[in-house]
Amino acid sequence: MCGIVGYVGPEACAPILLDGLRRLEYRGYDSAGLAVHGGAGSIDVRRAVGKLRNLEGALRERPLEGQVGIGHTRWATHGRPSEVNAHPHVAGGIAVVHNGIIENHLEVRRQLLEKGCEILSDTDTELVAHLVHLEVAQGKDIETAVRAVLNTIEGAYAIAVLSVDEPERIVVAKSASPLVIGLAEGETYCASDVPALLPYTRRMVFLEDEEMAVLEAGGARITTLKGEPVERAETQIDWSPVMAEKAGYKHFMLKEIFEQPRALEDTLRGRLDRQNGAIRGEEIGLAPEKAKAIDRVVLLACGTSHHAAMTGRYFIETMARIPTVVELASEFRGRGAVIGEGDLVIAVSQSGETLDTLMAAKEAKAGGATVLAIANVIGSAIPRMADAVFYTHAGPEIGVASTKCFTTQVVNLLMVAAWLGHQRGAMSDEALAELVEDLARMPQLVSDTLKGTRQLVANLARRYVDARDVLFLGRGLSFPIALEGALKLKEISYVHAEGYAAGEMKHGPIALIDSTVPVVVLAPKDSSYERSIGNLEEAKAREAMVIAIGTEGDEKAREVSHDLIEIPEVPEALTPFLTVLPLQLYAYYVADFKGTDVDQPRNLAKTVTVE
Ligand code: G6P
Repeated sequence: MCGIVGYVGPEACAPILLDGLRRLEYRGYDSAGLAVHGGAGSIDVRRAVGKLRNLEGALRERPLEGQVGIGHTRWATHGRPSEVNAHPHVAGGIAVVHNGIIENHLEVRRQLLEKGCEILSDTDTELVAHLVHLEVAQGKDIETAVRAVLNTIEGAYAIAVLSVDEPERIVVAKSASPLVIGLAEGETYCASDVPALLPYTRRMVFLEDEEMAVLEAGGARITTLKGEPVERAETQIDWSPVMAEKAGYKHFMLKEIFEQPRALEDTLRGRLDRQNGAIRGEEIGLAPEKAKAIDRVVLLACGTSHHAAMTGRYFIETMARIPTVVELASEFRGRGAVIGEGDLVIAVSQSGETLDTLMAAKEAKAGGATVLAIANVIGSAIPRMADAVFYTHAGPEIGVASTKCFTTQVVNLLMVAAWLGHQRGAMSDEALAELVEDLARMPQLVSDTLKGTRQLVANLARRYVDARDVLFLGRGLSFPIALEGALKLKEISYVHAEGYAAGEMKHGPIALIDSTVPVVVLAPKDSSYERSIGNLEEAKAREAMVIAIGTEGDEKAREVSHDLIEIPEVPEALTPFLTVLPLQLYAYYVADFKGTDVDQPRNLAKTVTVE
């Protein structure tokens, strides 16, 4: 997730572009850059690593003059944050900024190298600049050249392109990543998102997938990628700038909960080979021989990432049949844990910087283990020390309580498990092909579940807002989800909550139950279903206020609970992606009704780099 912005008009564009980027910094902030038509047949570029102020510094030293330009704030997906990887990327008089992921980038890179192109960065974006340049070199205008290129690349993109030969226009296009055009008198803008443009105009035109547009000072002309003209009505945006940054949601956490379908889609992008019913192993970065040589998997993580790691153990054991343990990184460190060459250590961390996870992974590496990092922040400390990295592509997560990063970690762990299982012969071709299809439809199911449960969950949160204790119970794959439900509630609403393995209820937590305690039981139709129903009955018999999270149309679960939150029927491996959603929403609404600081709860930090 990056931010792009563009301007064509009579004003000096650099300050407008910088201001737009500042408003898009929530989309990414590891590097930034501008490209401006400088007159006299030149495009001038300034780029800087780090926060936007570094780019501002570079511009103070060497200002950019000109009225037509594009800008970018980066959240790395291909290539670590560095000046050479920062956008805009330039090739032979073409400058490109891009948000998204080009799926066939490896193949395109190979073809360009064969043609003798000199590729300077590790990014997929630079390839687009070269491709457009090759088309322009054959005599095409910029619009035709961009159209030709976009018909050959696969993946997600929102791009803005300048050509040195056409200084009065910007060409933009989109597929899957967002792009909005802003219209004003004699000025035309573009951006990844509305907030960048609100100080300048409220007249917006939203580009749809597979569409492109030519922006000039007098307006925008939209066409499809096939070249058919498109008429699109303007939308008048009434949001305040603060609302706009959160896309109209009250808090970043709620926005991020609802971003999960997109985050999952981006994380799956390019990793599923649906044609062959397979997982693209090269994305995981482990050699197939390594997959076969592993004796044991050790998962290391903290907080929410630890709950994701617990689902990973379940996946790896059932799909790959490899003995697996999950460790809290803080408990693994320094206790002299037995570790060796046969161990694959998977360090799971959103930030990639959590000190306990970093130190534990280093200790494991020193003991001879191979370390695979699952992280969301490209180039962070844990990916840097690891032997292989499999990134989640959730985009920046701003709410301290992790939501979209949790589900994307779980999906990466599921892909790792399936790939290992298939490599080792523990998972059949048919089972893998079936899982690949299930994963491909999962983002839509997540979206349906969020929409379908939101109102009921908000009502329940209102009803139980004053409960002093809440119990969450789950078995198997639902156990880590019960822990995650309790953690979310504790973190942001400061309500005491316990997550428990449902089978352990009779060994303690049952003593806590009375008519004042809401008990949430995860009871989807999975291999533990009958026993989970038993837990619901036990809780109800003790007069608890029982909420079941169950499968759509499950009359039995409805009968033995006070309220049933229904999720679509899915294969067992997919249940965590759906059961966790109402729990995230429940924590959110309780906190919101209590009026706590949802995005920055007291005493907590997004990234914990202390012991
Ligand atoms: C902090 C955050 C949590 C996060 C945990 C682990 O406690 O508030 O949301 O789950 O750290 O962070 P990591 O970046 O390693 O996933």
